[in-house]
Amino acid sequence: MAPQSVIWKLEDHTRAKHIILRKYLDAWLPILIREGRRGLLVDGFAGPGEYVGGEIGSPLIMIDAYQQHRADSLRRGRVKFLFVELDPERSAHLQRKLRTHLQSQPLPPTATYQVYTGRFVEAMTSLLANGCEQYDAMFVFVDPFGYSHAPMSIIRDLMACPRCEVLITFMYQGTNRFLDLDYRTKQQHYDSLFGTTAWRTITLDTPDAQTRQRRLHDLYRQQLLTVAGARYVRSFCMRDRKNTTHYFLFFATKHRRGMKEMKRAMWKVDPTGNFVFSDCTGLEQGFLLQNDDPAILAQKIYNHFRGQKVTVDDIEEFVLADTEFFKYKSSLSLLEEKGQIVVYGPEGRRKGTYSDLTMPVLFS
Ligand SMILES: C[S@@+](CC[C@H](N)C(=O)[O-])C[C@H]1O[C@@H](n2cnc3c(N)ncnc32)[C@H](O)[C@@H]1O
Repeated sequence: MAPQSVIWKLEDHTRAKHIILRKYLDAWLPILIREGRRGLLVDGFAGPGEYVGGEIGSPLIMIDAYQQHRADSLRRGRVKFLFVELDPERSAHLQRKLRTHLQSQPLPPTATYQVYTGRFVEAMTSLLANGCEQYDAMFVFVDPFGYSHAPMSIIRDLMACPRCEVLITFMYQGTNRFLDLDYRTKQQHYDSLFGTTAWRTITLDTPDAQTRQRRLHDLYRQQLLTVAGARYVRSFCMRDRKNTTHYFLFFATKHRRGMKEMKRAMWKVDPTGNFVFSDCTGLEQGFLLQNDDPAILAQKIYNHFRGQKVTVDDIEEFVLADTEFFKYKSSLSLLEEKGQIVVYGPEGRRKGTYSDLTMPVLFS
């Protein structure tokens, strides 16, 4: 249940989400914001900026990631933070937190922020109407409690902006519960969440909760690819020890580098207390992001390309788009050692080096 109070207790699964957000921004900021460039960071469901134990919320995590970053080039680019919060009391709380924080650590003149008290959809509609082309890059964090305030049509319009990436919390449990109880009265919400009516067949035709979860997840992912126009989509699921899924975190981007950095961030999240993160894309049970044995990926790469001649670039594309991994060089090295691939590198190339993405690779 969504809390009614202005601030609430930070749960472990939110803590893990915050670690991912922070680690991703640490990587994203210097790549996208530098001299002559302008970036926009949106926290579409910003919350009050603080939890009852004094821990900071996502808007302050964003600001802090920017302020603490060691790359000076960041300060030569321009950045705007837009925090959207519907609840007036939470918005007021957030504004106080931001003022206090920025009094002791002011933003440089190249950075600004705005708190919009209102709905995510309204804020994004106005942003889009004013032209998102003024930004060279955008990152939008969509972190609602429920399922009815972030329609696929808005995600699609945002993804059409230059270099826009989205990180979306998909509250599976809430969605599933309502689908069970009163889906008929909620049809419009689900239609707009998914951007299609196809979910109706899933809820009516899928007998067990596990299969339904998988099919709803897959539908949402498919919609991000086909309707929102993302090139890369991965999802991560937060589960408790009883293997109950608490939420999915979907990341969607058109850029390979963005996906690489997000995976790097996901892999760095240690299991927190009673929760574990798994890569959920395309796997029934999810892949625990702890096992980085290169032999697992080597097998996947080999199975996929067996008998073909491709480039290192094709392999990287496969690894980033279609597997849970992001590092692949040790896996190629294993395959090369075993003679399962032949790499046609320039004269003098050392075995086990794959930095030239144009090199042809022949799989036996
Ligand atoms: C899960 S909490 C956000 C937590 C925050 N992102 C964090 O990680 O610290 C969701 C917030 O969205 C707000 N909210 C609910 N509906 C909204 C809407 N339509 N637009 C913007 N904010 C909304 C709620 O008041 C709540 O504070």
